[in-house]
Order: sequence, then structure tokens, then C-alpha cells
Amino acid sequence: MSSLSLESSAATPPAPSRRLGLYDTWWTVATAALAACLALSACAWVSLHLHTDHALHTAALFVHLASLVLGFGAVLVADYHGLLWISGRCSLRDTLDSTARLHAPIWTGLAGLIVSGVILHPDLTSPLTRTKLALVLILTLNGLQAGLLNRRMAQHASTPVPPRFLAWGATTALVSQVCWWGAVVIGFHNSQH
Ligand code: HEM
Repeated sequence: MSSLSLESSAATPPAPSRRLGLYDTWWTVATAALAACLALSACAWVSLHLHTDHALHTAALFVHLASLVLGFGAVLVADYHGLLWISGRCSLRDTLDSTARLHAPIWTGLAGLIVSGVILHPDLTSPLTRTKLALVLILTLNGLQAGLLNRRMAQHASTPVPPRFLAWGATTALVSQVCWWGAVVIGFHNSQH
């Protein structure tokens, strides 16, 4: 028996080395967070110097709303999967797999919102618009650390989840909802003036 297991372990090929992923460590997440801060600052600067005509403004507004549907829609589906797990209607593995797959539409929608928002020429002297941009920055950073949380929780998919992960997950979902709804309300309010 022991020689058999020795033989089989000797025959097992070494695990292939995996490239370091974005959500693997706090260092990679912090680096991405820094890049996101710089990118958002650059977008704010560009928006100050960009002049667009009416047709481009209208097209950008359409892209803004379409990106809102894609990004925020995917966030709501991810949070819905979290609720399904909390209420015992699906496994943690199902929830983590679904939310991991939703990262692509969430980031694509957010990128679309930011690029089209720049073309919409935000009034950066308005405190409300500044608040909206702060919310966008917070939800971006929150989304990055949510990817890391997903990875850490996956290690507990077959064991009881420690309470600190539950608190971490609930806080992440709360921050996400507050920031997305806040940005929607401010965007809608600004468009009325
Ligand atoms: C989570 C991200 C965002 C959300 C949820 C969001 C949401 C919205 C909403 C709901 C509107 C109203 C559209 C309408 O009915 O007319 C709007 C308009 C607008 N948004 Fe955003 N937005 C986001 C990000 C951004 C960013 C990053 C910028 C700027 C860089 C931006 C700039 C604008 C501008 C300038 C308008 C037009 C306001 C006007 O009509 O004068 N948005 N946004």
C-alpha cells in the first residue's frame, strides 16, 4: 500500500506554476488600486480640457446609460447570488463562481461609465459632482478588494466560513450598494439642471 502510494506520488507531475493574478495578494490589489486612482485623476483632468459637440454628447449619454445597465446590473446580480447563499438556497461554491464570472461585465460597465462620463463634461466645481467622483473611486477600490475576498472565501468553500469573512462580505456589499446608488442619484440629479 505504502509502496503504491509512493509510486503514484512519484509519478505525479509537478503542479504547473501559475502566473500571479490580480486578486492573489494585497500587493497586487494595492498596485491596481494605485493605478485606478491615477487613471481616475487623469480622466478628471481630460474632462476639463475636452470640448464636444451636441451629437457626441448625446452618444456619450447613451453609452453612459448602457454602461450603467451593464455594470450596475451585474453588481445587483452578484449581490443577489450572495443573498441566495445567505438564505441557504445555493452553495457558497455556486455563489463564488457566479460572482467571479460577473467581474468582466462589472469592470466593462464601470470603464464605459468613466469614459463616457469624461465626454459628458462633468462640472468639477460642483460639490455634488465631486462627491459622485469620490463614490466612483470608492466603488472601484471596493471592487478590487472584493475580488481578493472572493479568492479568500473560495478557500472555505467546503468548511464553515469564519465570521470575519461574513462581516467582510457584508461590508463590501453595503459599500458597493451605497456608492452605486449614490452615483446614480447624483447623476440623475445633475441631469435635471
Ligand atoms: C458608477 C458610476 C456612475 C454612475 C452610476 C453614473 C450615473 C449617472 C446617471 C444615472 C446619470 C443621469 C443620466 C440622465 O438621465 O441624463 C449620469 C449623468 C452624468 N454622469 Fe454619470 N455615472 C457614473 C460615473 C460617472 C463618471 C465617472 C463621470 C465623469 C467622469 C460621470 C459624469 C456624468 C455627467 C457629466 C452626466 C450628465 C449630467 C448632465 O446631464 O449634465 N458619471 N450619470
